Order: sequence, then C-alpha cells, then structure tokens
Amino acid sequence: MTLIPLNDLGRGLVQEREALLAAVRSVLDSGWLVHGPFHSKFEATLAEYVGAAEAIGVGNGTDALELAMRATMPPGRDVVVTAANCGGYATTAARQAGYGVVYADIDEATLCIDATALSEVLIDRVGVVVVTHLYGRAADVAAVNALCRDRGISVIEDCAQAIGAATAAGPVGGLADAAAFSFYPTKNLGAVGDGGAVTTNDPGTAAKVRELRQYGWSRKYTVAHRGGQNSRLDELQAAVLLLRLPTLREKNERRRSIVARYAERASSRLRIVSTDDAGYVGHLAVVVTPDREELVEHLRSAQVQSDVHYPVPDHWQPAYADEYAGVSLPVTERMAGQILSVPVFPELHDDEVEQVCRALESF
Ligand SMILES: Cc1ncc(COP(=O)(O)O)c(C=O)c1O
Repeated sequence: MTLIPLNDLGRGLVQEREALLAAVRSVLDSGWLVHGPFHSKFEATLAEYVGAAEAIGVGNGTDALELAMRATMPPGRDVVVTAANCGGYATTAARQAGYGVVYADIDEATLCIDATALSEVLIDRVGVVVVTHLYGRAADVAAVNALCRDRGISVIEDCAQAIGAATAAGPVGGLADAAAFSFYPTKNLGAVGDGGAVTTNDPGTAAKVRELRQYGWSRKYTVAHRGGQNSRLDELQAAVLLLRLPTLREKNERRRSIVARYAERASSRLRIVSTDDAGYVGHLAVVVTPDREELVEHLRSAQVQSDVHYPVPDHWQPAYADEYAGVSLPVTERMAGQILSVPVFPELHDDEVEQVCRALESF
C-alpha cells in the first residue's frame, strides 16, 4: 500500500510541463510582465466563463475579498457578516479594510451560511454579507440576496473553492453584487503562485475595484480613492490560468466523480458533504463523523492522508477571541470537531481512489 496524499501538485506540473514552459516563453517574448495582453485576455475569458459582465485580476483571493468589500460597502456602514467556518479569509479581508465582523451560524447539511441565522444578525451597520461556496459546493445565494436586497446590504460570493460550480440561477461568480476568486495553486483553477480576481455585473463596482487594485488611482499618479493598494495579477500567472481554464470543466468532473465514489462506498457512520450535480465541484472531499479521532487513526493505518478544513472557527481565533466571548455558533462549533478532509484531486489514480474507498467503507 502506498501513501495517498491529500494533494500532489507535482503530478499536474509534470503532465503540463511543456505547455507551461511554452506559456512562460510567450510572456517573456511579449516583453509585457504586468497588465499586458495575457492579463486582459484572462479577465475577458474569466468573465465569460462565470457569466459576469466584468472580471478584474488581482494579487490573491484575500485581496479580491477586501477590494470587493471596499467597492460595495454602502456609505455609513462598516460591518461585514460571514460564516466562521471558512478558514478566516473574509475575516482577514474585512479587518484589513477596518470593518467589524459579525458571524452567522451555518446550515448543518451544507455547512454553508444559514439564511435564518443570518437574518438574526443583520444589525443596522451591516453593509456586506460574504457567502462562501465552501468545499466546492454552491451555497444558497438566492436566499441571502433575498434577505439583503431590501436592507440595502451588498452580497459578495466567495468563489475561491468553487469555480465552475452552478446553481439553478447560473454559475457562481455572477449571482450577487460581486464575487471573489483565488487562484492559489491548490484551487480547482490554480496559478503557479498567487492570483485572484473579482467578478461583478455592476460597471461602477468594476471601475472602483480596478482603481483600488492600483493605489486608488483614477489615472496615473492621481489617487481618487482611499484604501487603494497594489494588488496585481501578473502576466505569467494570467498566461498559466488561460492555459488551464479550458481543462477546468473536465477536472471538476473528475473531482466530482471521485467524491461520488466515496459517498457510495462510505460506511453508514460517515456523511460526505457533497452533491452529485453541478452545484458541487469537489474542491475538498469532506467527511463528517462524531468519531473523528478514530477515523484519522483508521485512515492513517490504511495509508490515507487527512486534514481538517478548518479546525478553529473564526470567533475562537486567539487574536480576536476576546471580542467574541459572548458569541455562540452551535452548529459551526460542533462541526469544527467533526469534519475531516480526505484526498481529492484530478490526478488521483483509480487504484488510489479505490484505496480511499476501502478505508471509508471499513470504518
Ligand atoms: C474560501 C476561501 N476564501 C478565500 C481564500 C483566500 O485566497 P488566497 O489564499 O488567494 O488569498 C481561500 C484560500 O486560500 C479560500 O479557501
């Protein structure tokens, strides 16, 4: 039995080596390194892919969240609401922008933000709600939009884990006021370094993000907006992303089919968080069990790596815990002790998938 890794980026890099080298060569030959032709083409291609009017390339997914928040926060408001089980990225972005953060509990079945819990925390100062499509599963954006629209609250989708996923209303990324994407190497569409993007259907939001990502300049050397920063997606990353985007659908399908096999074979003591339709793109294969420590040991003896995404909810993070001493998020807190990620990536071999299936079956 060989060890099945949680992820192995090296396999994809070996398969794509010649194409990647050719992409790098084209960038160097073009003489443009930042905001050149590959970047423009990637923005247009991504917008089309997610069905949004515009896409704006930025340095990473956390910047994408921050710039989207700054561009859509209504005047006079300064609080962001999100779920506390999504790795803390929206929290980092909101804090960076100087906004307060309030958490809503999650739905036990989907592990995404729960609309009823959300409705209970929409205090007057809330200007933005971030809805995260967690683990590759499209969240119920329509329910969040319905709560927020009449209250003048902007909705941002966090699509970092779910590029290519769709709801009945269309692909994620074009379903709310703005959306944030990450192209961190482990994402379903990964760069060979950091990268991110904001998508939106609103021209005003797009224009503001474009200015904020480059020092807040309205034109060269003229700072029109406070809160600007340097957050650019470079030409090399844009060229790699353009190369990889055409294979994303097929890779998402492979991810989905691997997780579907886990769901079919897993013992009745385990629940797999997924759907078998386009609402899920298998970013992470997450198993729920009250007996997590026992499962970790069982998988270890079956040579299967596992990890927890994420072990510490945002309101319990040491840096901010004092502010949330009175906050209770029962589902978030319980699930943090019961979730476990098992291997899923497109280059997993069938015999490796079988080894994971056997381990999940025999638990
Ligand atoms: C849900 C989610 N949002 C945001 C991010 C932040 O992206 P980045 O690492 O590119 O800043 C990530 C991943 O890292 C993520 O998983």
